[in-house]
Amino acid sequence: MRIPPQIIEEVRDRADIERVIGRSVRLQKQGSRLVGLCPFHKEKSPSFSVSRDKQLYYCFGCQAGGNVFDFVMALEGLDFPDAVRSLAKELGVTIPEEEESQADRDARTKRERLYQLNLYAAQVYEQALAKTPEAERYLKESRGLTAETIQRFRLGWAPPEWHFLTQAIETKGVDPKLGLELGLLGQSVKDGRLYDRLRGRVIFPIQIPGGQVAGFGARRADWVDPEGPKYLNSPESPLYDKSSILYGLFEAKDEIRKSRVAVLVEGYLDVIALHQAGIPLAVAACGTALTPRHAGALARLSKEVVTLYDGDAAGQEATRKATEMLLKDGVQVRVGALPQGEDPDTYVQKMGAENLKKLIDEAPSAIDFFVAQAKSRFAGGGIAGTTKAVEVVKPMILAIPDPLVRDVTIQAAARALGLEPRAMMRHLSTRPEDRPPEAAKKPAKTRTLAVPVVEKAILRLVLETPNDVLPLLEQRGAFAAVSHEAIRIGLDAARSAHASGARFDAAKALDHMVASEKVAPEVLDELRRALMTEQPERDDPKELVTRLLKQQRDAKYAEIKRRLAEESDPEAQVRLLAESTALLAQRIED
Ligand code: UTP
Ligand code: MN
Repeated sequence: MRIPPQIIEEVRDRADIERVIGRSVRLQKQGSRLVGLCPFHKEKSPSFSVSRDKQLYYCFGCQAGGNVFDFVMALEGLDFPDAVRSLAKELGVTIPEEEESQADRDARTKRERLYQLNLYAAQVYEQALAKTPEAERYLKESRGLTAETIQRFRLGWAPPEWHFLTQAIETKGVDPKLGLELGLLGQSVKDGRLYDRLRGRVIFPIQIPGGQVAGFGARRADWVDPEGPKYLNSPESPLYDKSSILYGLFEAKDEIRKSRVAVLVEGYLDVIALHQAGIPLAVAACGTALTPRHAGALARLSKEVVTLYDGDAAGQEATRKATEMLLKDGVQVRVGALPQGEDPDTYVQKMGAENLKKLIDEAPSAIDFFVAQAKSRFAGGGIAGTTKAVEVVKPMILAIPDPLVRDVTIQAAARALGLEPRAMMRHLSTRPEDRPPEAAKKPAKTRTLAVPVVEKAILRLVLETPNDVLPLLEQRGAFAAVSHEAIRIGLDAARSAHASGARFDAAKALDHMVASEKVAPEVLDELRRALMTEQPERDDPKELVTRLLKQQRDAKYAEIKRRLAEESDPEAQVRLLAESTALLAQRIED
C-alpha cells in the first residue's frame, strides 16, 4: 500500500539522523558533525560522518551516503516503504490504513491464513521427524547434522502416506483449499479427493526474513523410494515467489548485515552445512538460478558475495551468471573454487570447517578467477586465446557500475592477461552499433559533467544561511548564471522551500536531484561528499556570486570567440565582435 507523501515527510522531519545512526554506530563529535567507524566497510580510523543540520551521512572511505531513509535501507536491507514504516513505528507516526480497500483487506487476511497454515504444516512435519528414528538417523548420521541444527532450521519429515498432512489439516478445521493453494495438498482428478503432495521426504521449511514460512523444499528419502525427483519445492503461490526467495536468509540476515558479506551456495543442505560449520552467512536460491531480484536482496544487505557453487561446468556457468548480476548491483564478488564433484556440504564433511573457512577467505575476486580460468583454458591459444579470454570477462567488467572500480578492474584484468590496459579499455568500449537501441535512444539524460567549484560552494552557502544568500543571488541575477543542472535543481528547491517557509536541508536538496532523474549518481556522490566536507572557513557570499557571474561571462566570451573563428559572414562577424567587446568592458568594470 502506498504511504502518503506527507507522512513520509513527517517521518523524515521527526527522525533524528544522529540518533537513528547512533544506535548502530558509535559516533563522536568532531567539529560541527559526528564521526565514527563506517558500518558499511571495514576500517580502523573513522571516515564515516553524520550531520544533523544537513540530515545526511557520508563515508569518505567507501562513499556510502544519503539521508536517514537511505541509512535504514542500507543497514537493515529494507526497501524504501519498509524503511519508512520501520522509522514511523519507532517515532509513533501512524501510517493511515484507511486507504486499504475491502479487497486489500481480504487479500491480507487471506495471506495471514496461508502463513498460518504453512506454519502449522511445518510443525506437523517437525513432530513427525521426532517420531521417526530412521529419518533422524539419516539427518544425523548420513548428513552429519546436530540436533541443534535440525531444530534451528526446523527440519521435518513427511511420512510416506497419502493422507498424513491432509488429515492433520482437516482435524484442525482449516479449509483444505488453502492447502491446495500452497501446494501442500493435491487433488485427485479421479474422485476429487485431497492428498499429500510431499510423501516420504525430509522437509526444509523456507523461512523468510519476517520469520514466516513461505514454502517448503522436500528431499527424497532414498530408503523409501530411490526414484523420483531429488527435491520438490513449493509451487508458486501467493506466499512463494521463487524468483525472490532465498533459503537461509532468515537465519543469515543478521550476520550478513554485520559483516556485509554473504556466501551464495546452491542447495538447502549446503546452507545448513555452512551454518553448522560456523559460517552463518550462507543463502541459496531454491531450485532455480539466481535472478536479479535475488541479487537485489543480497545487494541491500551486503557489499560482497562469495559464490560457492559446484566445480562442474553447470556450476561454473551459474557462477558466471550470478557474478554478472551481482556486479551490476554494485556488489563485489569472489569465487570460491570447490574441487570437482564436491559441494560445500560434502567438502565440509571431508575437509572440515577450518578448510572451508580458508577457502572462503582466500577466494579470488570473480574477475581474477575467470581470467585465470580462461587463461588456462585457452593456454597456448595465442592471440585467439587471449581474445577469447577477454570475451569471457568482458560482460562482467561492463557490468560494474562504478567507473572507478571498473577502471581498476580493467587494469588488473589486463595485467593478468598480459595486455596493455589501454588496449583492453579500447576493446571494452563497445562501438555505437553494438549498443542496444535503448541506450542510443536515451541521449544525455544524466549529466556527468563535474560540478564547478563555485557552484558547489554556492549551494552549500544557500543551505547554511538561506536568508542571507538567496536574496543576494536574486539581486544580482545569479540564478541564471548557474551552469550545472544539479545545482540549478538544488537551488530551485531551496528557493521554493524558502518562499513557502518550509524546512529545507542538504538531504532534501539531494532528494530533489534524485527525483528529477536528471542527475547522474556520480554527481550525487560528488555533492554528498562536498556538502559533508568540513570547510576551514566560511566562503564570502558576495565574492562567490561575483566569481559565479564572472565565470558565466568568461564562458560566454569563450563561446563568442569560438564562433568568431568559425564565422565567415562579415556581418555576423561584426555582431559577434561587438558582443565580445561589451563583455570585455563589463569584465574590466568589476
Ligand atoms: P543438487 O542436485 O546439487 O543436490 O541440487 P544437493 O543440494 O547437493 O542435495 P543433496 O546433498 O544430494 O541432498 C542443488 C539444489 O538444486 C535444487 C535444490 O534446491 C537443491 O538443493 N534441486 C535439485 C531441485 O530443486 N530439484 C531437484 O530435483 C534437484
Ligand atoms: Mn549435496
